[in-house]
Amino acid sequence: LSGAPEEAKAAAGELAAGLIASVVRAKPDAVLGLATGSTPLPVWSALARAGLDWSRVRGFALDEYVGLPAGHPESYRAVITREVVDTLGLTPSLVHVPGDDGGGIATAGARYEAAIAAAGGVDIQVLGIGRTGHIGFNEPGSSFASRTRVKTLTEATRADNARFFDTPGDVPRHCLTQGLGTILDARALVLLAFGEAKADAVAGAVEGPVSASLPGSAIQLHPEVTVILDEAAASKLR
Ligand code: F6R
Repeated sequence: LSGAPEEAKAAAGELAAGLIASVVRAKPDAVLGLATGSTPLPVWSALARAGLDWSRVRGFALDEYVGLPAGHPESYRAVITREVVDTLGLTPSLVHVPGDDGGGIATAGARYEAAIAAAGGVDIQVLGIGRTGHIGFNEPGSSFASRTRVKTLTEATRADNARFFDTPGDVPRHCLTQGLGTILDARALVLLAFGEAKADAVAGAVEGPVSASLPGSAIQLHPEVTVILDEAAASKLR
């Protein structure tokens, strides 16, 4: 998408919202895969204007930090509640975040996988991408067969996410994340990226060799993917 950065982001949000809205219109209890971070914000604001009934729509977040106190405003539980559940008017009990079901961390991944399966799988998964090429928090080296599990965040990702915390040292070192195998099981993927800092990761994900060293390249294995970029994020595509 061309145009000034803010206009391109708004247009990207409208495009992604259109895809999600058509899924929800066809299936009022659709299962959405929810990304956090800055990238999807224009998607949620565009969806809020779509005039849809959100009361039966279900959601599964991609990931959650491990080690934050319950109720921390930057926990992804809190972020998803603020930015998605409240913005759209989703039914809170139908929206899930890894590890938020009160059980222990050792089995949180397996419980999350079971919950996604019991919901009938994710209909459409929204994705951002990290500078490291991560989707979800599947950092380089993640297996394409991986399922929801605990991962260690790279220092690059911790530095990128330090903007949300008082000090860089406050960024958690670990997370629970859907695996690449989990993400690939969604019936459709929509990946968005904005800005020059994402250009290398986008080029690798879209055109590079399919490799665990750039986890986003796993999207090339999926039959139904839409990639929505501004000019800067697209600038290293051939
Ligand atoms: C967020 C997530 C991450 C982000 C990525 C980009 O739930 O899983 O993969 O999508 O780190 O973050 P932003 O959009 O803040 O640049």
